[in-house]
Amino acid sequence: MNKQMHLIGFYMHSPINHTALSWSDPDDDRVDGMRLFDHWKNLARTLERGKFDAAFFADTPGGFERYKESFDDYIRYGVTWPCHDPMALLGVMLAETKHLGLAVTLSTAGTHPYHTVRRLSTLDYISGGRVGWNIVSGHLRGEHRALGLDQIEHDKRYDQADEYMEICHRLWNGVQPGAVIFDRQTGQFADPSKVAVVDFAGEHYRCHTVPPVLPSAQGRPVLFQAGSSGRGQEFALKHSDVVFSIQARPDSMKAFVDKLGASSKAAGRAEPPKVVFGIQCVLGDTEAEARKRQADLFDRIPLDAALSRMSGTLGIDFSKIDLDTPLAANTTDASRGMLMALANMTGDGNATARDAARIFGATAGMPQLVGTPEQVADQLEHLWRLSGCHGFNITPTTNFKSVADFVDEVVPLLQARGIFRTDYESETLRDNLMN
Ligand SMILES: Cc1cc2nc3c(=O)[nH]c(=O)nc-3n(C[C@H](O)[C@H](O)[C@H](O)COP(=O)(O)O)c2cc1C
Repeated sequence: MNKQMHLIGFYMHSPINHTALSWSDPDDDRVDGMRLFDHWKNLARTLERGKFDAAFFADTPGGFERYKESFDDYIRYGVTWPCHDPMALLGVMLAETKHLGLAVTLSTAGTHPYHTVRRLSTLDYISGGRVGWNIVSGHLRGEHRALGLDQIEHDKRYDQADEYMEICHRLWNGVQPGAVIFDRQTGQFADPSKVAVVDFAGEHYRCHTVPPVLPSAQGRPVLFQAGSSGRGQEFALKHSDVVFSIQARPDSMKAFVDKLGASSKAAGRAEPPKVVFGIQCVLGDTEAEARKRQADLFDRIPLDAALSRMSGTLGIDFSKIDLDTPLAANTTDASRGMLMALANMTGDGNATARDAARIFGATAGMPQLVGTPEQVADQLEHLWRLSGCHGFNITPTTNFKSVADFVDEVVPLLQARGIFRTDYESETLRDNLMN
């Protein structure tokens, strides 16, 4: 089979995904949908109809409170406030589907690896191996403050997360094949000699237990990671199956894939992690209609709403900064990868904070593909071929209309070109996504 593109739907359990004020669009039903399982079931069925690999939930665990040192604009404009727990949606969306994967963002900050393995692997086991985990290490100050913790310095977060992952892997690998006997006659359920006792005492964590969950049909959840800084990529190369990145430009996408490939080789990995890029598609029956939709989307975003999100993500209070100065002049202990990607959205590394905020408010830095379904399919194919990426994490503009439009209007075009599946290859997320 020729190599094919992979598609993942990108969401949050909140009034918006990545477009501030998308809740105010008359086509948007997310605010109602937040209190209805049916909304999420419908989303799951639609993505499965479109043969998507997975739905992926980002998360803002803790609020955006950097801008003006206040939560006000985050709350006022519903810039991911409220942010419900995405884990609550996984069971219902998995139960509604047979092939669709469900990937969730869970932070290593303020959680224990034992709980994380138990929660994720229970869902992975019961769904027949369709769960993914986006490992994040806590770049938001608000997340730490919500838990009464001090935020740990950038590289130390990753050191701590390395230890966290060591426990996870031991728990995932601790049940040998044949461990479960399940003999009704002898009354023996399992063979203790085939179940490892994990005994870990590190600098940050201790754990003494046996694996709480059986391996799933795919062994363990598929691991995603989105750190793009030097230390972030080192972590990703050690732990991830898939690296998720936001790059504003085609040339930066290609450079990202090439660099990760080279670092992966240097690190001795047999194969580099698969790379998926965040993308937003704006569709119309004509190009002019799509452009008008795009313009409306930008026009309704108050600068304060955009700055509230960008300040939170980049860990910088942009109310204290001249917005017409280069973004790259700032340093951050939060998301360094995102700062670099935004600063380079003009191709010369010189984007101003104001340019970046405008884009960040509308797409959280993801490039937009605008036009008719045919034009969007062209652009997707072009980016995929040019960058050598594995596929795309697609965030909708309106929920859930733009998801259904993409599935009904763009997916058939990709299928007709032979670059996207017409049926699932397997029932596990790993087998569908990693080939
Ligand atoms: C594309 C992308 C998606 C991310 N999604 C989340 C998320 O949903 N929740 C979160 O807390 N952090 C998220 N992050 C933050 C990263 O996981 C990471 O903690 C942050 O970028 C800092 O790492 P870095 O400096 O190595 O880039 C995301 C980052 C990127 C680039």
